[in-house]
Amino acid sequence: MSAIITSIINWKGGVGKTTLAHHLGTGLTYRRKRTLLVDLDPQCNLSYLSVGAANHLQLVRQGTPTIHTVFDSFFKHQASSPQDIILKQMVTSSKDHVFNHADLILSHQDLTMYDIKLSAHKSAAPDSFEEHSQLQLEKVAILKNFLRQIRDRYDYIFIDCPASLHLITQNAIFASDYYIVPTKPDHLSTIGLSGIRKIIDKFNRQFASLCAYENPPASYTPAQLAGVVFNMVHENHKGLPKSAHQHYINQMRNQDHSSVFDQYMIECDDISEAALKHQPIYPLSKQRNAPKKTVKQVEYLHHILTEFMIRVREEVPV
Ligand SMILES: Nc1ncnc2c1ncn2[C@@H]1O[C@H](COP(=O)(O)OP(=O)(O)OP(=O)(O)O)[C@@H](O)[C@H]1O
Ligand SMILES: [Mg+2]
Repeated sequence: MSAIITSIINWKGGVGKTTLAHHLGTGLTYRRKRTLLVDLDPQCNLSYLSVGAANHLQLVRQGTPTIHTVFDSFFKHQASSPQDIILKQMVTSSKDHVFNHADLILSHQDLTMYDIKLSAHKSAAPDSFEEHSQLQLEKVAILKNFLRQIRDRYDYIFIDCPASLHLITQNAIFASDYYIVPTKPDHLSTIGLSGIRKIIDKFNRQFASLCAYENPPASYTPAQLAGVVFNMVHENHKGLPKSAHQHYINQMRNQDHSSVFDQYMIECDDISEAALKHQPIYPLSKQRNAPKKTVKQVEYLHHILTEFMIRVREEVPV
């Protein structure tokens, strides 16, 4: 069976995309799932969370291939080799679980140039409609063509996207079966959510028609919303979201109940504490005297993992 590919997307920054990608990827390794994390953000935050910023810098200085190599190969007209680019068992789930770490594709700050470079790249025959649409398709299919080579080796692939919907993120959408939208329960974070969905639907339609123009016509399976995950929720003494946060969760559920995950993440300082050790929060909850909030966050993350698996399992790609 081939991997379910899921992008973590929101054009709003700082809502927890990277944190969620890291915790979904590492959390699934506890369930013996073969997982690959792809850092598609030139900020490299998922790379930093996974290996540490200093190690990332060292790896890049040593010339370790990154996601940048994948996009570069498009311009060099060469296929990039997965065994060079994927760092095996690089993402620590917990020091006690050495055998089930996740694999990783690092990001690179220069990836930011590829959004510009790809947009500016024109076909040799700009007046030919066929050539134009072929090139448009090639520009968004770079990541998919790469992941196709290794899809059978994993159960789950997660792509951490930058806070934009430009061509790099469009590559993630084109490559994905599903996408998850993390959000904070506040006005500015929730106001744009229906817009993201509309734009991704529009991309899906565009990609489908580009594929239909191929010779022979190819089919395109649209990226589907696996759900919106509320993050950094504050709970009241009853263990429910505080009323201001519940308001935004309800508002989203009233728009489309099924698109919102039942489970949310609470705000928890140990997320940053774990990040400093370039680990997910899971091992911190096992320490003696672990704060109640940390234990709760880990419990909630396990609910999110289960809910995610249920949400995507019905449509496992062949
Ligand atoms: N549940 C949480 N509790 C406490 N801190 C959190 C939580 N989730 C995320 N954070 C912190 O909030 C900050 C933003 O999170 P993160 O980097 O995951 O967001 P992002 O959406 O990926 O941001 P960007 O758009 O910049 O890529 C980080 O410092 C992270 O440690
Ligand atoms: Mg991020």
